[in-house]
Amino acid sequence: MRAIAIIKSEHQNLAAVLYSLEQLIAEIDSGKQMEFPIFHGLFTYIDRFLDRYHHPKENDFLFPRLLQRAPDTQALILQLGQQHYQGAKLFIEMLKALSAYEFCGEGEYPHFRELVLRYCQFERDHAQLEEAEVLPRAREVLEDSDWQEIDAAFGENQDPMFGAEWDSEFSTLFNKLVNSLPSPVGLGDAWK
Ligand SMILES: [Fe+2]
Ligand SMILES: [Fe+2]
Repeated sequence: MRAIAIIKSEHQNLAAVLYSLEQLIAEIDSGKQMEFPIFHGLFTYIDRFLDRYHHPKENDFLFPRLLQRAPDTQALILQLGQQHYQGAKLFIEMLKALSAYEFCGEGEYPHFRELVLRYCQFERDHAQLEEAEVLPRAREVLEDSDWQEIDAAFGENQDPMFGAEWDSEFSTLFNKLVNSLPSPVGLGDAWK
């Protein structure tokens, strides 16, 4: 059942990134200059970890086993799987909006802002739904052999920003982010 703690911890890391995105938007709203590299860094983190590691492990291991042991969860599993797809699609829209903002200038900010805030709310709601509905049910119905498989899959995840061993290509990005981002993600001053 180690996977439950890993999933919760990954959700907490994601929540910290989403919080930072929202705070950065609030800072821009109050007149601070947009810093594109920070957004590129956070978006790369989201792409690498959430869409390439976290969600696929849920899709490939946790959800199928839960569906097998508790067929009444079918509608929920379907909904969450669709949300993974919708979130990835929304992410691409947000990335395109960042690119347009960077290239075309201020006029693109409202669209970018709206997408960032929508994305943050969407992913936060998604993780909350998993924690409220999926994890308690999985704890209830999954068997030891299921957990061995799921634990092994989630144990392989290495969070590129928060994990003990992140990919070397992330080390520069990580250093830059922790020094420029507010707590709880970074070492910068807390946002006021
Ligand atoms: Fe998920
Ligand atoms: Fe999740």
